[in-house]
Amino acid sequence: MFLINLSGKKVVLMIPAGGSLEYRSTCRIIHQVSCNIYIPSAPTKTHMKISDLPLPKDVIEYYNKTGITELYPPQAEAVTKGLLDGNNILAAIPTASGKTLLAELAMLAAARSGGKALYIVPLRALASEKYERFTEFKDIGIKTGISTGDFDSKDEYLGDNDIIVATSEKADSLLRNETQWIHDLTTIVIDEIHLLDSKDRGPTLEVTIAKLRRINPDIHIIALSATVGNAHEIADWLDAECILSEWRPVDLREGVLLDDTIHFTGYEVDFSRNHHDTIIALVLDTLQSGGQCLIFDSSRRNAVSTAVRVSKALKPSKDSHLAGLADTVREADTDAAQKLADCIECGAAFHHAGLTSEHRKIVEKGFRDNIIKVIACTPTLAFGLNLPARRVIIKSYRRYDPNYGMEPIPVLEYKQMAGRAGRPHLDPYGECILIAKSYPELESLLDHYVASDPESIESKLGTVGALRSHILSVITGRFGESYGELMDFLQLTFFARQQETRYLHGIVESVLDFLFENKMITRSDGSLMPTSLGRLVSRLYLDPLGASIIISGLESRDDASDLTLLHLVCRTPDIRKLYLRRKDYDWIPNFASEMQDEFTAVPDEFDSGYEWFLGEVKTAALLLDWISERPDKDIEMKFGTGGGDIRGIADTAQWIMYATAQLSRHIRSLHAKRARELTECLKYGVKSELLPLTSVRGIGRVRARRLYDAGYTTPESLVTAGERRIGAIIGPKIAQNAIREIETGRTYGQV
Ligand SMILES: Nc1ncnc2c1ncn2[C@@H]1O[C@H](COP(=O)(O)OP(=O)(O)OP(=O)(O)O)[C@@H](O)[C@H]1O
Ligand SMILES: [Mg+2]
Repeated sequence: MFLINLSGKKVVLMIPAGGSLEYRSTCRIIHQVSCNIYIPSAPTKTHMKISDLPLPKDVIEYYNKTGITELYPPQAEAVTKGLLDGNNILAAIPTASGKTLLAELAMLAAARSGGKALYIVPLRALASEKYERFTEFKDIGIKTGISTGDFDSKDEYLGDNDIIVATSEKADSLLRNETQWIHDLTTIVIDEIHLLDSKDRGPTLEVTIAKLRRINPDIHIIALSATVGNAHEIADWLDAECILSEWRPVDLREGVLLDDTIHFTGYEVDFSRNHHDTIIALVLDTLQSGGQCLIFDSSRRNAVSTAVRVSKALKPSKDSHLAGLADTVREADTDAAQKLADCIECGAAFHHAGLTSEHRKIVEKGFRDNIIKVIACTPTLAFGLNLPARRVIIKSYRRYDPNYGMEPIPVLEYKQMAGRAGRPHLDPYGECILIAKSYPELESLLDHYVASDPESIESKLGTVGALRSHILSVITGRFGESYGELMDFLQLTFFARQQETRYLHGIVESVLDFLFENKMITRSDGSLMPTSLGRLVSRLYLDPLGASIIISGLESRDDASDLTLLHLVCRTPDIRKLYLRRKDYDWIPNFASEMQDEFTAVPDEFDSGYEWFLGEVKTAALLLDWISERPDKDIEMKFGTGGGDIRGIADTAQWIMYATAQLSRHIRSLHAKRARELTECLKYGVKSELLPLTSVRGIGRVRARRLYDAGYTTPESLVTAGERRIGAIIGPKIAQNAIREIETGRTYGQV
């Protein structure tokens, strides 16, 4: 009946998930091969209806209205295991299997019984996505807030909300600043909890969870994880029921392409190339069958060049939506923006952390709306953003590691990327393709990635670097007022679940010595007390090592230029330093040597730390250009960074400069005033003279300079000149808003 003979060749019929052969009128011929018919399994129905759950009527109606009527199997399992009865839950289930809904149900149930929930995410971009999603609950009277304030702000005003979204760092800083509403929390959701394994984020996450549980031992915990090797261990740590499942709403086929064949587990499919370039051939093949493509690349640069290559093969489209998106991006007038706009015009785009957040959002939305068809991206896109595609191509499964060179990525990361394949309700299946160059490589990829389970995750808390900051916060937060109490607190961490805390004694001792020597704590008769400096450092969210570098730098000199202070900020471990590219060696060492009197510490040229120092100098030089109002375009070119990087580095520098001003005041150094001013200059990327103007909303570095050069130097001068004259310089709409804001007194004009 369904074996069709096409010139003597057998074919594969692709039938949408859950389809039967009744679908044959919509079947398409995908590949000519000689193998069996493949019918993907339908999403299993659980028959557990939202309407049968013990939830308020309007919550049930809300979900039914948005088309969610029945729970997916892992969601049903979570309910059966007590999600709505207050049992802690760890859900370790694949990408796109509906983890957020679990959290939503628990948070809504809590809110309706007078509780309050904190939703913790690893990335700011994810915080915005979740915030936008949860604000939809306002229709049923649920208030949502997002905590994005500065690290030393308490964000007390958020206490009014039922749900608050924050990154793990921000949640930690709210605890350090003794925010009151933290004590009212009844529910916490930890999204992407497998990041406990991350060297940067993991320690903060586990200490934050431990503190929240210490404050409210009955707090209801919903932890959401990718599938990991040791889910039960994490569940044990959290006293949680473990939901472990491989279920996905859309079938996922994982394969490896070698020459003209895609090898899946147990079967193969011929791949007829329509282009000599393998990536382009895979893209064209996906697009022809109505799908979209995500290509994971190993670096930002590669992602950009892949997108450019693909877009050339796609050619400019006549689609007016694409042209509209491209025009908006082009307005930014930087090289990166032009390149992105050129790609978008053809239906392709690149996506990485170097893009500005506006451009990232345009790309994400364009893809979700099915206008942009292909995105070449770095692996950060694999973290929780809801951006599925029919086909995921993993262009490179190796990643550069400064210690080991090119290294294969972990299986967990591969599974996260692969899991992006398949859009529920839209794609009949999702497909992830790795690319092999030889038969042995093919076998190894099938073995190591396709057929392997993800690794177990391991706590990264047990190092001096990780514990320095957290031990200080435990002491200042009164979670550990003696050595014994401190060790008891550490028993609550995931580290203690995995290893005996006696291994920590040596590390804890050396951290305490450091904090004591740097006057951040006092120790007497076994008690540990924070000093006022210790409290300040903890509130400022600085690494105590960074704080000690800043203090000794400030104390080392009476005069300090802007470069001195910027370099001091760049010496702290809290800021990511720029690497030197080959061509940077043409000028940075000279610049460093010419300016050496300006720096608070200069290692010997033959010292092993000299390279590191040059990275600090390069970062400080970028910041100096930023506050000298050098155009973004020139900075990007000179330093080899993206627009998003400049903002990212300036953002971090602004926070550390603010901390420098506070520390400077604390030790009564002379540099507090300039450091405070520089904080504002870094915020806007301007010289001090423009600060009164940039304090008006809507006036950024470019418009402020135009106004200043035209003789308007203060907010009052704009009001006096009036909308017509100011409008001629910065545009009528912005002039009108700015003047209205100044008149209503919302702008104060001075630093
Ligand atoms: N029971 C359901 N019925 C229909 N759609 C659902 C259901 N549960 C979740 N969804 C939808 O599935 C999509 C993916 O869900 P979600 O973003 O929660 O995935 P996730 O498991 O958190 O994956 P990730 O690993 O990407 O974070 C969302 O669009 C969501 O609305
Ligand atoms: Mg998620």
